[in-house]
Amino acid sequence: MSGKGFTVKKDWDNPKEHAMPEGARVPAEVCIGSVRVAPATVLAPMAGVTDTVFRRFIRHASMFSSAGEPGSESIEAEVTNTQSGCGLLMTEFTSADGLSRMRESKRKRYLTFYDDEHPIGAQLFGSNAETLAEAARIVQDTGFDTVDLNLGCPAKRVVGCNGGSGLLRDLPKIGEIFRTVRKAVSIPFTVKFRLGWNDSQIVCVELARMAESEGLNAVALHARTREQGYTGQARWEWIAAVKQAVGIPVVGNGDIRTPEDAAAMVAQTGCDAVMVGRAAPSNPWIFRQIAQYTATGAYDRPTVEDRYRMIRAYFQMLLEGAEASQSQPRDARMGETAGKMKQFASWFTHGVPGGAKLRASIYQAKTGAAVLEQVDAFFTAQMTSGADEAGDACADLPDGALVCD
Ligand SMILES: Cc1cc2nc3c(=O)[nH]c(=O)nc-3n(C[C@H](O)[C@H](O)[C@H](O)COP(=O)(O)O)c2cc1C
Repeated sequence: MSGKGFTVKKDWDNPKEHAMPEGARVPAEVCIGSVRVAPATVLAPMAGVTDTVFRRFIRHASMFSSAGEPGSESIEAEVTNTQSGCGLLMTEFTSADGLSRMRESKRKRYLTFYDDEHPIGAQLFGSNAETLAEAARIVQDTGFDTVDLNLGCPAKRVVGCNGGSGLLRDLPKIGEIFRTVRKAVSIPFTVKFRLGWNDSQIVCVELARMAESEGLNAVALHARTREQGYTGQARWEWIAAVKQAVGIPVVGNGDIRTPEDAAAMVAQTGCDAVMVGRAAPSNPWIFRQIAQYTATGAYDRPTVEDRYRMIRAYFQMLLEGAEASQSQPRDARMGETAGKMKQFASWFTHGVPGGAKLRASIYQAKTGAAVLEQVDAFFTAQMTSGADEAGDACADLPDGALVCD
């Protein structure tokens, strides 16, 4: 989803470097109600990013590495959750209001997922309890494994309708929503929230207790206030406070960029699972790396060839999907796809030598095919010159797309 008033940063403010904590591991599994999440890692919902194509890439990222089976670089290849390293996928957030009003054919566009995405949770936002309950029923009937309520989105147009983090100022209303949605569905019901509206209204512990007492099956905390947006450090001490306050699983979120960060979050907070957002589009192997690191204390890093295979296959899928889809007029679909390719290329080429130059040329491209051409030329040159993973010191382009949380 896009909108005005909030910039989502794809970089982190002064990221902390974490060493691997002694003995701390991301748990092998966590049960969210009846749903087994193994390993205990979750792909964060990200508007404009975590659509079905991206989610399947995350599931299959291990296939796009030199460590994968030769010839298996296809998202059609079978892969277990343990191989992929990602225990639970989440959709982008969807408006409960929109969902309950739209025709069934249109709903499909928002709620499409493939069999190999299980377990998968759908995230909803809204502020009317009955509408959210109706949308949660639709989610359940569509076959999702879990339904999640968004209480974190800082975007003005969502907060303006009292949705997302706007609700953090009205705990009784949240209580009503919890009760109404809980009664409406039997699949696990979870909530993702921020610390509170601002530093003088931190409500995360109270909110988590309420979630537990109303029968929700897990809580996920992005450890920043609404006022903080994406600035500063995520305050993991609040994840620890929530963990101490409730018995249902607590999913920690905020500032995990590396497997070391994931282990450090578990060590510092005792959380039952970790959720990874921005690191995933810039390093789709992150879940696999966390699993490897947990098992062995070391992890593979993608080569330039791995990156090329990954981005190429991903872009081809996006282009094929846009050609085949009937959801919008062709020009609109192709335009949307080209935008998505630019955005993804911009995240994905961080850390690749010369990536800023590629981002600049892609920025000028008018079509998806032209973006793909630039990517081909860039990586072919990279592989011929034998560039390594030394990192990209060049300045970044301005953010293209908005975002939400
Ligand atoms: C592009 C983008 C879109 C996002 N969209 C959503 C969303 O739809 N729902 C949500 O709960 N959070 C959303 N978020 C917030 C993330 O889920 C996550 O809480 C946040 O990025 C912090 O985690 P990280 O440090 O691992 O990125 C979004 C974040 C980004 C960067």
